[in-house]
Amino acid sequence: MQIAERKLPHLVTALPGPKAKQIVKRDHKVVSPSYTRDYPLVAKAGRGAVVEDVDGNTFLDFAAGIAVVATGHCHPDVVAAIQKQAAELIHMSCTDFYYSGTVELAEKLASIAPGKGAKRVYFGNSGTEAIEAAMKLARYHTKRDIFIAFHGSFHGRTMGSLSLTASKAVQRRHFGPLLAGVFHAPYPNTYRGTFGTRPEHAAADALSYIENDLFKRIADPEEIAAIFVEPIQGEGGYLAAPAEFLKGLERICRKHGILLVADEVQSGMGRTGKWWAVNHAGIEPDIICTAKGIASGMPLCAMIAKVDVMDWKPGAHASTFGGNPVSIAAALATISLLERSAIANAARMGDFILRQTAGWRERHKIVGDIRGKGLMIGIEFVRDQKTKERAPDLRDRIIQSAFRKGLLVLGAGENSLRLAPPLVIDEEQADFAIRTLDACISEAERSI
Ligand SMILES: Cc1ncc(COP(=O)(O)O)c(C=O)c1O
Repeated sequence: MQIAERKLPHLVTALPGPKAKQIVKRDHKVVSPSYTRDYPLVAKAGRGAVVEDVDGNTFLDFAAGIAVVATGHCHPDVVAAIQKQAAELIHMSCTDFYYSGTVELAEKLASIAPGKGAKRVYFGNSGTEAIEAAMKLARYHTKRDIFIAFHGSFHGRTMGSLSLTASKAVQRRHFGPLLAGVFHAPYPNTYRGTFGTRPEHAAADALSYIENDLFKRIADPEEIAAIFVEPIQGEGGYLAAPAEFLKGLERICRKHGILLVADEVQSGMGRTGKWWAVNHAGIEPDIICTAKGIASGMPLCAMIAKVDVMDWKPGAHASTFGGNPVSIAAALATISLLERSAIANAARMGDFILRQTAGWRERHKIVGDIRGKGLMIGIEFVRDQKTKERAPDLRDRIIQSAFRKGLLVLGAGENSLRLAPPLVIDEEQADFAIRTLDACISEAERSI
């Protein structure tokens, strides 16, 4: 059977298969050891939510290239747009010349960005570049130099964005000194409580820390250029900030002339069932950064800012490859698919998964929390539901056994697992993923 006809996994070898084993062995000799591969999947082809490895095994992909292939692998419309553009023009550089596609995509992004006011768009190649651009623009525009970010946040791995990142120490270790003037505040945790207690006060406690502690003891608000926030922390564990917190941040920013930057690199482009995760809270950030899902796998990022904020002058910032025509064409095709049905499908399938897993906390003693919006769903594993002691080892075991059953999932945060499939999955695929995970969780429970 061709991969295009498959909807569910089909394993034909032990995992990893012989060809995969060979490639992994060669990879380990020559490719950077900084990558973190959880299991030995050697991908060869993909269609929709199905991935085929080099040995002919097919998998159901609930990782989507780390929340990237929004329209599924190799959607025919996206492939056709890429092929057409590649045959016409691959590169001229948006920094020195004009392309019509760039304008069309900027107009589209400006129109879907939250709020009615005019926007302008900067294009780069990756999530981290969108964040770097936002950091530079925030300093340029405000003439202030301090940034606030949050514990658990992941904003990227280049020196500026890494300075904001506070997800795992290994990501920062040996890379210092990082950018001066970055301070971190606790992120509201509605499962554990912002300070480990009072989950119901998570938003109020996190806001109070900023206003009553950080502003008074560490950084005068009049010196702060921007607050960077993921409305739903991605690498930090698929943890959503309550609407009350995001509204509070918006209020604080307006009061002190601080720019509010929403990092929607992972949560944006329809993944949560709306264009942006901030749409769920009804706020209007000054800057939105997005990447991952924007072009279904082609490298592209966008930093969208209010028109009066993006006031930098020619020469202030650019990237040779940023907004290249092939990625732009892929993004335009992606957006039209998202609008046509994929965003609505993400909302529907997300609700379906949350409904089907609603009883898991009662049935599985190691499931601490299941949360999410649209197809950005996190499951947090604990050793004990009362103490909430984290169980990263059980989470890792579940990821491994899901792989052996043909389901691709990834971890997030210390002890959570993320479900981030393509936005085009159907009920049969969601149901397969749920049943497989249910079985893996039961296995993990029996092992303790
Ligand atoms: C919220 C968020 N911001 C920024 C980044 C960095 O993106 P990239 O890896 O494309 O540089 C990521 C990547 O995982 C992310 O999840």
